[in-house]
Amino acid sequence: MSQQARESGPPGDADRGGQGSFVVEWREGFRTGIAEVDAEHQQLFALVKGLQLANAKQRLEGLVDYVVTHFTHEEALMERSGYPGLQRHIEMHEHLAMRVSEFLVGGTAWSEERVQELRTFLNKWLVAHIVTHDLHFGRWYHATGPSTQPLPLRDAGASLFDRLFGRR
Ligand SMILES: [Fe+2]
Repeated sequence: MSQQARESGPPGDADRGGQGSFVVEWREGFRTGIAEVDAEHQQLFALVKGLQLANAKQRLEGLVDYVVTHFTHEEALMERSGYPGLQRHIEMHEHLAMRVSEFLVGGTAWSEERVQELRTFLNKWLVAHIVTHDLHFGRWYHATGPSTQPLPLRDAGASLFDRLFGRR
């Protein structure tokens, strides 16, 4: 494990899942207590873990699509509940979307190294974002009173990149 990878979470929470790969599993410490958010976070870790060189192109498209869906849900929940940190949170989501899109359009051919680089980046981002910002929202949400409205359905008609940049 690289020093960089070590810094993304407490010792023992990440493992090598293969030759040099970096695997992070969802754990209880990530729980926000908001069922939809936690279920989507668990799915995100599973999708990142499932990224392999053999399936990189298809899996990555599914992963990016799911990331955008999740961000849309989380932001809608924040907006409906009047979360004061909404704008800053949206900016963090946009920054991640930008980084991933740069990776997608600017990269060379897929290689084991490139897949692992992406998995490590996504895992580190997810862990840092969830433990700092999503847990903060979860605490605020429970203290303030949860919204009873269901999460909005995503707009299936928009393209992936429309959704990536337009959060639709
Ligand atoms: Fe978030």
